[in-house]
Amino acid sequence: MKAVKIIDGLYWVGAVDYDVRLFHGFHLTTPRGTTYNAYLIIDDRIALVDTVYGPFAGEMIEKIREVIDPKKIDYVIANHVETDHSGAIKDILKYCPRAKVFCTQRGQEGLFKHYFENWNFQTVKTGETLSLGKKTLQFFEAPYLHWPDSMFTYIQEDAVLLPNDAFGQHYGTSERFDDEVPEYVLMSEAQKYYANILTPFSVLVAKKLQEIKEMNLPIKIIAPSHGIIWRKNPQKIITAYQQWANGQNDGSVLVIYDSMWKSTESIARQILEGILSENIPVKLIRSAVTDRCEVVKDILTARALVIGSSTVNRGVLPSVSSILDELEGLRFRNKVGTAFGSYGWSGEGPGLIAERMKKAGLEIIAEPLKIKWVPDEPELKASYQFGQKIGQLLKK
Ligand code: FEO
Repeated sequence: MKAVKIIDGLYWVGAVDYDVRLFHGFHLTTPRGTTYNAYLIIDDRIALVDTVYGPFAGEMIEKIREVIDPKKIDYVIANHVETDHSGAIKDILKYCPRAKVFCTQRGQEGLFKHYFENWNFQTVKTGETLSLGKKTLQFFEAPYLHWPDSMFTYIQEDAVLLPNDAFGQHYGTSERFDDEVPEYVLMSEAQKYYANILTPFSVLVAKKLQEIKEMNLPIKIIAPSHGIIWRKNPQKIITAYQQWANGQNDGSVLVIYDSMWKSTESIARQILEGILSENIPVKLIRSAVTDRCEVVKDILTARALVIGSSTVNRGVLPSVSSILDELEGLRFRNKVGTAFGSYGWSGEGPGLIAERMKKAGLEIIAEPLKIKWVPDEPELKASYQFGQKIGQLLKK
């Protein structure tokens, strides 16, 4: 794949990783692969904004060479330390060892602690600028979006925002722009990315979006460090981020469960029917056979979670526990829920689930439902009514 011209003097020189299926170690699933986006700015002086993951350094350098001799790079802008974007800095700096490396103070500390090199660093703060000739770069510190070192770079004259990980998606395709790909795939990947990576920083995301809004910066293009570039309608992803960061939801319920011998499953199905009878949108998810990161994506926009598990070894089944781990770590805003499950003798499961949901910041709206062994007809009816009650409570 070749370098892609975005506008005059701005080129995508990144790499598409079609094969990666697990990201951040083994934590995040990436069924569509990803891209590592680096951007080359050509002016009187030449700047490279971010690089790519180390194994893709050769691809990036080849693309830069199509546009300009890499020895001519004057500045490398390191918006973020994480190795998927900084991995090829050491490779490019071999061509232009005197290039200045612009980053935040924490960026400098982080880059040194990753590569142990005293490069020609220049640290920047919010509002500082760098003139390339006709184009001016403006920097914005963006701590915890999503690392302490993160920053955004903005090309003033072209109204192009290069926000690194923010507004990205793990979407590895040969298409580069939002007008070239199906919108539902793009938005779904963007939501999954936000839910799994940015949710814990939602308060800071909302604050940063507000800060940008108050600055009245025109934004014609958003070119993130992963996935597709937003040029058709950059406001679409800004609005989506505002909604996600503020904990807005679509009013739906997720019934998430796992079951050993189908008893908890029958309860789950009755709860589903009960909620449906109240005309509330609801989705049934068996956690053991569903990609955990997809469940997290759905949780982001749901109103309520009803989580169930058989009681096993005084606890819950592993796939349910893993969803509860995510809830505790990600700390979604404005969610409510409750728990349920079948048990044989001790029956701690539903209580434990509710306790952990509460710890994760969810409001428990109904006493958890627990049923011994296989639910009989009256118990199935009680499960249905439990669902109805949840639906009614959500209407209030
Ligand atoms: Fe895509 Fe935080 O690295």
